[in-house]
Amino acid sequence: MLLRLTISVFVLLSASFPSTTALNNGLGLVPSMGFNTWYDVFMNPTEDSCLALVDAIKATGLYDAGYHYFNLDDGVFSGRDANGTLVANPSQFPNGIQSLVDRVHAAGMKFGIYTDRGTQTCGGRPGAQGYETIDANFYASIGVDFLKEDSCNASPDEETAFAEYARMRDALNKTGRPIYFNLCGWNTYYAPIGHSLANSWRTGGDDGNWEGILGNVDNAAGIVQYQGPGGFNDLDYLLGKNAQGGVAQTDLQARAQFSLYSVITSPLIISQDLTKISDYSIVTYTNREVIAVNQDPRGAGGIRLVGGDLRPCINGSTCLNVWGKPLVDGSWVITVVNAGSQVVTNFTCGLATNCLTATGWLPTQKLVPRDLWQHQDLPGVQAQQGVVVPSLQALGGSAMFKLTPVW
Ligand code: GLA
Repeated sequence: MLLRLTISVFVLLSASFPSTTALNNGLGLVPSMGFNTWYDVFMNPTEDSCLALVDAIKATGLYDAGYHYFNLDDGVFSGRDANGTLVANPSQFPNGIQSLVDRVHAAGMKFGIYTDRGTQTCGGRPGAQGYETIDANFYASIGVDFLKEDSCNASPDEETAFAEYARMRDALNKTGRPIYFNLCGWNTYYAPIGHSLANSWRTGGDDGNWEGILGNVDNAAGIVQYQGPGGFNDLDYLLGKNAQGGVAQTDLQARAQFSLYSVITSPLIISQDLTKISDYSIVTYTNREVIAVNQDPRGAGGIRLVGGDLRPCINGSTCLNVWGKPLVDGSWVITVVNAGSQVVTNFTCGLATNCLTATGWLPTQKLVPRDLWQHQDLPGVQAQQGVVVPSLQALGGSAMFKLTPVW
């Protein structure tokens, strides 16, 4: 019996983790939280802009709320020296990359860097292909804590991609330094083997605009079962009013994205100009009750409880989704989002409207709802009845509730 059980566990594990070695670096037990330079400075991060951003992360209270990774994206390295070691562009980083790593660490933050599994990065800078060991050792030697590896200028074949990501994973493991590994292959097919390769894996293209955000939310619907402590689906960056390059979102949309990504359990990485961030955005991103949903130790991914794909709603009139997930304390959190172009009034989420079916609660189960944006407990209800959302604005109105069963 014991042997049978052992064999079944082995078969199950090998089916879900086809790769030979696991990442197993002890990181990413909950989704990572931090900042990425892409939708702020794109290909031109500089020492000065990075230091100003680090100051802003501290001054806005984002650091205190848990955003601890400071991640550089593309555009840092201009070439390699005679030994093959990456060289940061001296006109952007006059004091060298080590100096910046030290300043970021001195500010109490963790330092992230970017590479690509191909011959060049998406922006045409040196790629890691064939240099995995040299690069991993270099990252470890300067104190890198997080590595994003992109997928440009590389084979589109899935198995080749898995093998190339595994090469970097193994090179990182061999350094002995725990380095969070974020693979960026823009595809849901990474989800089933994600845990064996990385701490998080991008499941869709660059979110870039409201439609892209909705599309990445839709992608998450079928792959929630693959994530959990140690590895999460990555829906891409949190865009807000100060995202640059024409990708800014309204306050409403940015809050809806944050509410969705929190319940879906994606990493929370803000990417926009934080030196000019609005008070509204700060309130959005520092809502500790919502962050706690994302960071819940159970690590369950959110599931779509009501509605269908949101991407087509970009031109639709009514388009509503409810996503929910169970927390470690037995409560559920739901996020309700209106992506349509009409206001929605008196939407009810309860068993009677087939909204809470996945919870398994009996109709008479008593619940205490808490509004996570109003920071208010609401009067107790039965699961049958559920919560009523009086009004959801068009094009991104959202609401979030924690439903705690009272036994
Ligand atoms: C790709 C990635 C983005 C960003 C750019 C950098 O498009 O998906 O997140 O890293 O490359 O060139």
